[in-house]
Amino acid sequence: MRYLLCNGSPKGNNGNTSMILDALAEGISSVSDQHIIRANLNRVQEHESLVLTLLDSEVIIIAFPLYTDAMPGITMAFIEALRPHIGQFDKHTFCFVVQSGFPERIHCEPVEKYLIRLAGILGAKYGGTLILGGGMMMNPKRFQIVNHIGARLSDTQVFDETCIKNATPLIRFPVVSRGLMTLATKLPVTQSYWDSQLKANGAYERRFDCPYEPKD
Ligand SMILES: Cc1cc2nc3c(=O)[nH]c(=O)nc-3n(C[C@H](O)[C@H](O)[C@H](O)COP(=O)(O)O)c2cc1C
Repeated sequence: MRYLLCNGSPKGNNGNTSMILDALAEGISSVSDQHIIRANLNRVQEHESLVLTLLDSEVIIIAFPLYTDAMPGITMAFIEALRPHIGQFDKHTFCFVVQSGFPERIHCEPVEKYLIRLAGILGAKYGGTLILGGGMMMNPKRFQIVNHIGARLSDTQVFDETCIKNATPLIRFPVVSRGLMTLATKLPVTQSYWDSQLKANGAYERRFDCPYEPKD
């Protein structure tokens, strides 16, 4: 079986997506002889040739971090590069990995709906979406779950539904925790981190600008 694992993080090999794909690849290759190709989508100039590699693969995994509740632009650009080939994916299975900073699944669910639709638009088989909330807080146990999902994938060529549900069981924090967190975000100590980032980037004075607000 030929696998193509695409890393849609702008940080390439230095990000969390890369570590998650390492665990998945290890799981896939643990079962039997599998042909795995890894690619970083941050090399945008290589997208066209990568589409040809994708056409030559059977299982495609597109992994990306959640950026402002959506996908990074480089991931979207790669998906758009598939458009001229719609109709040529009937023998391909597309699986997705979405990992987010927030630990709750709910943040990734809208993009998951889009990915299900995308597989349909491409005319490909949908192999599931592995959502990893708190992707920057991975620990050995969570990496082991990803590893196991990879091993199951090489058996069935789709993500095991129970395994992917267990990867991030928390859908949403309970109401009380959400209330406490909302309060915490108002504390000066929480704001000071964001203010320091704004200052470091020379944007502090313009933090309340609304450039797209219609002017009377
Ligand atoms: C520009 C930017 C936007 C982000 N937006 C979100 C977001 O909307 N929701 C979320 O849960 N995490 C968000 N994050 C956190 C990332 O999803 C998280 O840190 C992820 O593990 C980064 O993966 P990477 O190191 O492979 O890029 C954002 C991070 C960045 C840099």
